[in-house]
Amino acid sequence: MAEKKTVSTFARAKRSGDRLTMLTAYDYSIARLVDASGVDAILVGDSLGNVVLGQPDTLSVTMEQMIHHTRAVAAGVQTAMVVADLPFLSYQVSVPDAVLNAGRLLKEGRAQAVKLEGGVAVAPQIRAIVEASIPVMGHIGLTPQSLNAMGGLKVQGKGEDAERLLRDAMAVQEAGAFSVVVECVPADAAAELTRRLSIPTIGIGAGPDCDGQILVYHDMLGLFDGFQPKFVKKYADAGGLIRKAFAEYVADVKAGIFPGPEHCFSAPQRLEKLY
Ligand code: KIV
Repeated sequence: MAEKKTVSTFARAKRSGDRLTMLTAYDYSIARLVDASGVDAILVGDSLGNVVLGQPDTLSVTMEQMIHHTRAVAAGVQTAMVVADLPFLSYQVSVPDAVLNAGRLLKEGRAQAVKLEGGVAVAPQIRAIVEASIPVMGHIGLTPQSLNAMGGLKVQGKGEDAERLLRDAMAVQEAGAFSVVVECVPADAAAELTRRLSIPTIGIGAGPDCDGQILVYHDMLGLFDGFQPKFVKKYADAGGLIRKAFAEYVADVKAGIFPGPEHCFSAPQRLEKLY
């Protein structure tokens, strides 16, 4: 069996130049499939709010929901590192809250690391969580939990704003994060950050020169027919496949084709196993 991925995998990849891969998962069955792909880490993202719970944004996601889904994902994973998002207001209010909630994602959710959004403003929280022996992945650039403050979901770090991005990245690194997600920033700004940081950058909408990439699996499989960001490559039309299978099932039942004789039990088989 392949070796379990850890923070050391991330540090080694930065040194060797191996590109890191991450995908999201929110439940046991998908976590098993994602893990089997050989991905380095699985993020139980608070995108849960959008793609699983049907919310317009990530703001209403709770600690209880994150723990519930992280536990399901962790149960399905053997090799990938499991990283869980700290949801909105679980770490911004105070440093003790941040440490306690990060700990809950490990203790109750069985994650190996937590991710939180922000740079300079949340450096004290990152430092305290790391001091409690909990690995932290930062998240800078477009930080969806701040969508109201940012005036919507917009590309960040353009022009002079690149300086702010760099300050945020440095603050996250100096606070002790083992890696940082860089979301929706110009490719040249992300490349510059990647050159300057000694921790790996994981890009999403941040061009090809980050140390790794992450995608929300609903986007890359065509499962989410809401807004499709420019940076997503659609690897499969799983949504189309699923719609077709469901419609065929409905048609088969209505036409009396399913269940067929091969799906039925006859009297002498009554005591045989179901599967
Ligand atoms: O919640 C999430 O899925 C994320 C990724 C988009 C990085 O934070």
